[in-house]
Amino acid sequence: MKKIYFLLLLLSLISCENTKKKENMSLFKINKEFFGKTNDGAIVDQYTLKNSNGMEVSIISYGGIITSWKAKDRNGDYKDIVLGFTNLSDYETSSPYFGAIIGRYGNRIREGKFSLDGVEYNLAVNNGENHLHGGLKGFDKVIWDVKEEVNDKLASLILRYNSMDMEEGYPGNLDVKVTYTLTNDDELRVRYEADTDKKTVVNLTQHSYFNLSAGLSRDILSHQITIDADSYLPVDKTLIPTGELRDVEGTPFDFRESKRVGDDIYDKDTQLTFGNGYDHCWVLNKQGEGIRIVASAYDPVSGRLLEVYSDQPGIQFYSGNFLDGTLESKDGGKYEFRSGFCLETQHYPNSPNQESFPSVTLNPGEKYETETIFRFTTR
Ligand code: BGC
Repeated sequence: MKKIYFLLLLLSLISCENTKKKENMSLFKINKEFFGKTNDGAIVDQYTLKNSNGMEVSIISYGGIITSWKAKDRNGDYKDIVLGFTNLSDYETSSPYFGAIIGRYGNRIREGKFSLDGVEYNLAVNNGENHLHGGLKGFDKVIWDVKEEVNDKLASLILRYNSMDMEEGYPGNLDVKVTYTLTNDDELRVRYEADTDKKTVVNLTQHSYFNLSAGLSRDILSHQITIDADSYLPVDKTLIPTGELRDVEGTPFDFRESKRVGDDIYDKDTQLTFGNGYDHCWVLNKQGEGIRIVASAYDPVSGRLLEVYSDQPGIQFYSGNFLDGTLESKDGGKYEFRSGFCLETQHYPNSPNQESFPSVTLNPGEKYETETIFRFTTR
């Protein structure tokens, strides 16, 4: 009798242990909550992805916007390191693309015009004389259909949007899928997929503004940046690339070795004048070699290090030059001049009008598929 009793006790202990193990393994979570209603009454939810280390990324169905991203500093303190707003109406009315998915075309297209097979397409001119970030109602301002997936290794949010033929002037019905995946390596993987039923152009990106100090109003000039690029694309005064690939050697654009954003930003350089700082696309090295590290940003005070991996040919490094202290920050201050920076992996700006640039054309039957990873560690 005693033997049976001990056997039962042992079995129940083992099963308890297994349940505990399972619980520990599935520490990924997604919390869903109401975020707001758009101007036209659509409901927008916020999904917070959590890993078992403590990293949290909040994403809303409007624009696929990352509204908050908590990453640890070298003391293990988790703080929000992205610019954004606390309410939906600010995203609808005044956002400079904070945290959003950008499409169909991330960046500028000259005068909002391009041709495919002899047909000219006209897009909204919403940035001086040019088209920027997909137009008046780009992918940053639409409601995405959202599905959640959680298992022991990851938490994913799968966002889908069907962009109609001629929406914002772009040809073809474009089915878009963006998957955000948080892993236990403190990385957020962003996978973009799309297909079309008519020849079109596509260039998707993610527009998070980072401030790794977590002081969201502080300038980012002491962040140390690397960009694995031997050349960059000089622009005209409307920020359209001239077509030249210019060597970074001996210029303020050389980030092959880690350098503070503020080191050369005040140099007398026509390109810095045009951009009012850095607002350029770098021509990344190791193109065609798949996903590789392309850039990093380090904040020496908090110790946060962000590494960006991508399969894309270019990266727009934007030093927040249009932030001017008018927008209210999430932490009670204002978004001051250069209080956030973006590292937007993408194809080159105005590619549809520059034959020498890698193609952004998508044909029916082809699949647009690219990936970028944002990985956090501390030093
Ligand atoms: C562009 C900037 C622009 C910013 C916000 C960046 O991708 O390069 O020129 O001001 O987005 O719109």
